[in-house]
Amino acid sequence: MTQEIYLTGITTTGTPHIGNYVGAIRPSIRASKDPEKKNYYFLADFHALAKNEDPDNISQSTLEIAAAWMALGMDTDNSVFYRQSDIPEIPELTWILTSMTAKGLMNRAHSYKAAVQSNVEGGNKDPDKGITMALYSYPILMAADILMFKATQVPVGRDQKQHVEMARDIAQRFNHHYGDVLVLPEPVIDDHTAVLAGLDGRKMSKSYNNTIPLFAPEKPLRKLIMKIKTNSLEPGEPKDIAGSTLYDIYKAFATPEETAAVEKQYADGIAWGAMKQQLFEYINDKIGPAREEYERLMAEPAIVEAELLKGAARAREVAVPYMEQIRKAIGIRKLG
Ligand code: TRP
Repeated sequence: MTQEIYLTGITTTGTPHIGNYVGAIRPSIRASKDPEKKNYYFLADFHALAKNEDPDNISQSTLEIAAAWMALGMDTDNSVFYRQSDIPEIPELTWILTSMTAKGLMNRAHSYKAAVQSNVEGGNKDPDKGITMALYSYPILMAADILMFKATQVPVGRDQKQHVEMARDIAQRFNHHYGDVLVLPEPVIDDHTAVLAGLDGRKMSKSYNNTIPLFAPEKPLRKLIMKIKTNSLEPGEPKDIAGSTLYDIYKAFATPEETAAVEKQYADGIAWGAMKQQLFEYINDKIGPAREEYERLMAEPAIVEAELLKGAARAREVAVPYMEQIRKAIGIRKLG
């Protein structure tokens, strides 16, 4: 059996928040330490570009995300941790794959279709208004990320499943033409990872502007937690854990015993203000040590840069010779 290779990318937009932490960062960090598994994690800064971010945002977000993953204990020796734009073979492979990807396949991408639909619904004459080629071809760049490292398993959120399936389709078509060169990946969707609600009760997401940054300093952290939406039940009235954002966040961090204790407090009618204070203290304690390390790294970006370059060198040990093989297969060859 071929070795399982896990690979996942993180788009470098925004500041890591506690929803990212419980949904993606925490499970990835755990997996990064597993000696049985080959894991690749990378910062998808070319993907961030497709979202039209401004330059300072992209580099700031790259630093914040890398520092956060490192501060939380990502094992960068056992796994490979790098930045997409440090691997020139990725854009090269993207072009090669672009040459053999059916335009019709890209037309079907949910993200592209959603952008068109929002133009149409907004009454725009041009359904493609504001849509860049990067947004349109986004799944091809993502396919190159995946295929470049022969990934077999790609852990992603549900919204990215189609993209991984497209990578598979593209690889299949390539192999059909050029022989068995690319490895077909599979999406891995973990239905057990928690999806947290944000301050307003909707899914915590940068696009809703309702997030709690993972490493918010103590004061802002407290302030944000105090803003979390609750209902109007008075102190002393029993409260339902179902649909309570405070409870869900607590549970995502706590042990089963601690969670059971909070369930009892709900039944006993804990005041919302008291629950908020308790949640703040709990998270502040848990995050404290990693936050210190994060702040140290943020103040010394050269440490983070060196770590990413180390990862890139290791990633290219795979990408460079593989690219040679891919070039040969498609007829981009030395002439003599
Ligand atoms: N598109 C992914 C997202 O926004 C990030 C990503 C880029 C990715 N390349 C990838 C994920 C390759 C998995 C594999 O979430």
